[in-house]
Amino acid sequence: MTQTAVALATDARSAIAEALNQSVAETAVATMLAQNFHWNVTGMAFGPLHDLFQKIYEDHFVAQDDLAERIKALDAHAEGTLAGMIKRSKIKEHDGKASDKEMIKVMQEAQETLAATLAGAGAIAAEHGDTLTEDLCIARGQEHEKFAWFLRSHLA
Ligand SMILES: [Fe+2]
Repeated sequence: MTQTAVALATDARSAIAEALNQSVAETAVATMLAQNFHWNVTGMAFGPLHDLFQKIYEDHFVAQDDLAERIKALDAHAEGTLAGMIKRSKIKEHDGKASDKEMIKVMQEAQETLAATLAGAGAIAAEHGDTLTEDLCIARGQEHEKFAWFLRSHLA
């Protein structure tokens, strides 16, 4: 049965918030990763890659806020420290010293990790009947899979 945030049991809300905090953390680390690559990418494809990495960090910056505010709608704590996010995130920071191909590969893997994390968060939300969180997670998963495709196409 579909449940609104206020109707969810406390343990359901905290399970969903935990999954969303994981999603926010990985989105934030990927935001920095994309900005890092936007700055440091080199090579013949500099222009399009500089632009693509910008599209990614702009998308992710908005998404972090949407996901974190959904946590607040669930009346839970949104992790708001970089250290905490880095600790939670399966996506790791990168020093930005790499070839354009390596950056594309690292970002493709980050997008795939995010798609999986969001799919998992959506499934937890669905389990508890939290359709609104599930919907947000599905929408985010689709964006990450789209970016993974964009990136993968550069390496074909
Ligand atoms: Fe810029």
